[in-house]
Order: sequence, then structure tokens, then C-alpha cells
Amino acid sequence: MQLALLGAVALLTQNAAAQNMLRFACSQLVVERTDPLVNPGMKYTPHLHQIVGGNSFNISMDPATHDPPAMSSCTSCSFVEDLSNYWTAVMFFKARNGTYKRVPQVGNGGPQGSLINKGGLDVYYIPSGKGFRMLAGNAVNTDASKVSKGNICHRCWQSTDDNQFTGGAPCSGSDTVDIPMSTSCKMIRQTIIFPACWDGKNLDSPNHQTHVAYGQGSGATGGGACPSTHPVKLPQIMYELMWNTSTFMDKNIWPADGSNPFVYSMNLGGPAAHGDYVFGWKGDTLQQAMDKNCNLNKDCPAAGLHAQSADKYNACTKAQQAPEEVDGWLKALPLGEMAIKA
Ligand SMILES: *[C@@H]1O[C@H](CO)[C@@H](O)[C@H](O)[C@H]1NC(C)=O
Ligand SMILES: *[C@@H]1O[C@H](CO)[C@@H](O)[C@H](O)[C@H]1NC(C)=O
Ligand SMILES: *[C@@H]1O[C@H](CO)[C@@H](O)[C@H](O)[C@H]1NC(C)=O
Repeated sequence: MQLALLGAVALLTQNAAAQNMLRFACSQLVVERTDPLVNPGMKYTPHLHQIVGGNSFNISMDPATHDPPAMSSCTSCSFVEDLSNYWTAVMFFKARNGTYKRVPQVGNGGPQGSLINKGGLDVYYIPSGKGFRMLAGNAVNTDASKVSKGNICHRCWQSTDDNQFTGGAPCSGSDTVDIPMSTSCKMIRQTIIFPACWDGKNLDSPNHQTHVAYGQGSGATGGGACPSTHPVKLPQIMYELMWNTSTFMDKNIWPADGSNPFVYSMNLGGPAAHGDYVFGWKGDTLQQAMDKNCNLNKDCPAAGLHAQSADKYNACTKAQQAPEEVDGWLKALPLGEMAIKA
């Protein structure tokens, strides 16, 4: 239950088999225990998130009064016009001695050769038809069989070089719902693909999920045909996160009980992976970007999109609203009580 797309409704005109897509870096805005969708108004929410995007992000973002493009003065994402917020759980390494350390994140070069990220994640908007609104994942789920591997998955990356693109399409082949656990995985790529079908009426729903649905397609294919209950096609949103696990490859410091040393900030594994989204593109720039076939993280004058230099978007950060230690070796995960440094 997470990820609602808020904001003005816009309808996209059909994009004939467009292969272009937006794919851009978003650096870390803040890592803190807040969640304006699931726990509005709360500081020290049940688990820790990493948040990227517009700096109007707040503990409450009431859609009636909170307008991210108007209230943000910068964004940690590449495009100046994208003041949306994107957030996910963070990954921790659990050492044999019982302490935890946050796993560092890097960008994923992929087709661009390099994307410069300071922490954070990479976002894709894959044109898939008309209109938009959104949401993915369940932060309390522990059952891998309840998650479609075609939507939320992990891939073992046997190199620390993000240019060494490995394997097929996201969430295909040997990708897994669970977090891989092998000393050969130097990096772990996490993919979160959002539903691309909308009910055409509601900008959000009580669980932030039922106003959208997955289509018949699997993976990053644009979503496939929509069910009759959710007939409006949205651009498909995908988050890509690269967890650099290479510093934790010494099996002598892995938990003695043989459990997976890598856990998300809920203290749960891959089946609980989730992503949240609050729409905040300026005016109709996202619609224009889809209509005009804007590509990757490049300037797109036809749609009025401006790509910032990495030093600009890296500099857009925000102080924690729920201050606590989240780096270094921690005695406990930041759950419940404030985290305490080991
Ligand atoms: C969050 O919102 C409140 C009230 O809407 C405002 O007073 C406060 O300055 C905002 N905080 C941040 C960090 O933007
Ligand atoms: C716990 O283990 C980690 C990894 O070996 C080490 O870096 C850290 O210093 C240890 N912390 C304590 C309190 O022993
Ligand atoms: C991953 O971490 C290792 C060890 O700290 C470092 O040498 C490497 O440069 C990192 N990889 C990337 C892509 O930043």
C-alpha cells in the first residue's frame, strides 16, 4: 500500500509505439522516518525511507493545499520541471555482531553509460498510452508468492561497475522477489514497477492502491492491456535502485544463523519492498514529454524539459524532519524508538 499519484488529471494522446522513454537520476533528498501518504503528519514513522525529488516534501502533503511545483525551490532529480517525490525503504546490512549499516546506493549507468547519483534512485517513465495517475508493493508482506516477480524484483550484479549491464529486461529471467544472498553479488539491483492502469476517476484511494491496477503485461513493457475496471492507460513508472553490497562480502561477518544479512528498513526482506509516489510535474510537462517522445535524461525543448547538471540536483537536500542517526553502525534498526549509534 503506497504510492499515490496526486495532482491535476491530464490525458495523454496515444503515442504510436514510442520506444523513447524518460530515464533519469534522482539523488538523495533526505533519509528519514516520514511518510506523508501512509502516515501523514507523523514523525518517526514505523520504518525508514529514502526520499528524492522536490524539496517541498513534508510530513503532511494534503493534496488540497500542497502543490509541489509551487512550493519546491529545487529538486534532487535531473529535470528542473519534476518536483515530484519518489520514496522507498532502504536496505541495511546486518552484521554477525548484531549491528546494522545502511547499504550505500549508486546510480545505474545502463543505456546512458553513466548516471550520476548521490544516493537515491533512477526513475523511468515508459510511454504506454493515454492519461495518468498511480501506486506498488506492501511494506508488511513476508510472502514472496504474493508478489509478482514481473513487478518487483532483485537482480544479482556480479560486478561493482554499473556500466556492466547484465541480463535481460528488468524483472525477467533469474530475477527474484527475495533479496539475493550470495558473496558473488557485488551489487543488488532492485526494480519497482508501478501499475499502469487507472480507474479514470480517483486520484487516490484509501489504501493508495485500488484506484490503479496492473495490466496484462509483465515487466517494463509498458503495462499491457488494462482490465475493464481500470481502463485508462498511464505511463509506466519504474524505479531502479542499485545497492552497492560489495563492502559486505566477507561471509565471516554474516549472521551466524545463516539468515540473509540484507534486509529492508522494515526488518523484512524482498517481499515487503515498496515504492511511493507523489506527482509533482510542473503544468503539463510530463504529458508533453510523453507526447513529444522525450528521451533519457536529456533536454527536451519540444516539451519544455530542462536537464540540470549533477552538481545542481545533488545540491538539493533537506534536513531530517525526524532527526536520528541513520548512517554508521547502528545498535538497532530505526524502528520504534529513535536509533542509537553502536
Ligand atoms: C511543513 O509544513 C508545515 C506546515 O504546512 C510548515 O510550517 C513547515 O515549514 C514545513 N516544513 C518543511 C521542512 O518544509
Ligand atoms: C560489528 O561488526 C562490524 C562488521 O564486522 C564492525 O565493523 C563493527 O565495528 C562491529 N561493531 C561492534 C560494536 O562490535
Ligand atoms: C561500491 O563500493 C565499493 C567499495 O566501497 C567501491 O570501491 C565502488 O567504487 C562502489 N561502486 C560504485 C559504482 O560506486
